[in-house]
Amino acid sequence: MTITRTLIRGVGGYLPERILTNKELESKIDTTHEWIVQRTGIEQRHVAADDEFTSDLATKAAQRALDAANMSIKDIDLIIVATTTPDLTFPATAALVQHKLGMSHGAAFDLQAVCSGFVYATTIADSYLKNSLGKRALVIGAETASRILDWNDRTTCVLFGDGAGAIVVETVDLPDDRADQGILSSRLRSNGNQWDKLYTDGGVSTTRSVGHVRMQGREVFKHAVGMISDVVDGALEDAGYTADDLDWFVPHQANRRIIDGAGKKVGIDPKKVVITVDKHANTSAASVPMALNQAVNDGRIKPGDLVMIEAMGGGFTWGASLIRWTS
Ligand code: UT7
Repeated sequence: MTITRTLIRGVGGYLPERILTNKELESKIDTTHEWIVQRTGIEQRHVAADDEFTSDLATKAAQRALDAANMSIKDIDLIIVATTTPDLTFPATAALVQHKLGMSHGAAFDLQAVCSGFVYATTIADSYLKNSLGKRALVIGAETASRILDWNDRTTCVLFGDGAGAIVVETVDLPDDRADQGILSSRLRSNGNQWDKLYTDGGVSTTRSVGHVRMQGREVFKHAVGMISDVVDGALEDAGYTADDLDWFVPHQANRRIIDGAGKKVGIDPKKVVITVDKHANTSAASVPMALNQAVNDGRIKPGDLVMIEAMGGGFTWGASLIRWTS
C-alpha cells in the first residue's frame, strides 16, 4: 500500500530593503519605541519601495524557493499567492507572478484569508496535488501591508510590515511505513460573524477604493490564543502526535504576547518557537513562510523535524498545519 503525501522541497523569502524603525515612527506619530516593544515585541519593519509591488516581492521569494528546491518554473503546475494587498483588483497577483517567472502553463490564483492566507494556501495546494490535478506547486504569501495602513492611526500603523515568503511542494507516493513525511494534517477555520473586529474601511464594491486597516486590537487579542490552540491541538490529534513531539513551532507573527500565550497554552517549549515579529512586524500572509525561510536558512529547521505552522487573522480566519520537514 502507498500513501500520497505533499512534501516540502524548498523555501525562500524576500524582504524589501528599507527598514522603518520604531524610533522613526516616534517622529511621525504619538508613540514610543518602548510602548511598541512592550505591547507587541516589534522593533522594526521593512517597507516596500514606491515602485515595488506585491508581485515583485512574491516573484523574488518564489525564485529563491525554486532555487532551494533545485527546480525551475517549468516544473511547477500551480501557483497560489496568499495576499490581502494584490497589485491590481484583477488579474490575480498569482497571474502576474506567473508572467514574471515566465510560466504560461498550469494554473495560478490568489487566495484571500488575510493573515491565515499562507496556511490556507498550503492546505489547498496539498488537497489539489493529492487529487492529481498537478504534481508541484509554488505556495506564496506576499504583502505590501504598508499600502493599506492609515499612517496617522497609531493603533494599527506600528504593527505591520511588508515582505514575501514561498515554498515549493511536491506530491509523492510513499510506502505506508514511510508515509510520516510532508504535510501530515491541517485544520482550517473561519467565523465571519467577527468580520468587524479586523477589516479595511473600504473595498472595490463598497467605496471603490482599498480603504485602511481598522482593528479592535483588544478584541482580536482576546480571541487569538484560544483560536490558535484549538487548531494546533486539532492538527496534532489528527496526526496522532502531541505538543511534546514538535521540534519547531512557527506561528503567525502578529504580536509576541499572542505567540507566547499560544505556545504556553499548547504546551510548547519556548526554545522551539521561531520568532521574527521583532524584525518583520506583522506581514500578514507572508509572516509564516518568511519565518520558515529564516529558520531553515539559519540551520534550525532540518529534514526530519516535526514543524507546526499556524495563523489567525481577519474574518476571523485561523488554521494550522503539521509538517514533517523534507527540504
Ligand atoms: O494578524 C492578526 C491581527 N492582529 C493582531 O493579532 C493584533 C491583536 N491585538 C494586539 O496585538 C494588541 O491589542 C495591540 C498591540 C494592538 C494593542 O495592545 P493592547 O495592550 O491591547 O493595548 P490597547 O489597545 O488596550 O491600548 C492601550 C493604550 C490605549 O490608551 P488608553 O486608552 O489606555 O489611554 C491606546 O490608545 O495604548 C494606547 N495606544 C498606544 N500608545 C502608544 C495604542 N496604540 C499605541 C501606540 N503607541 N502605537
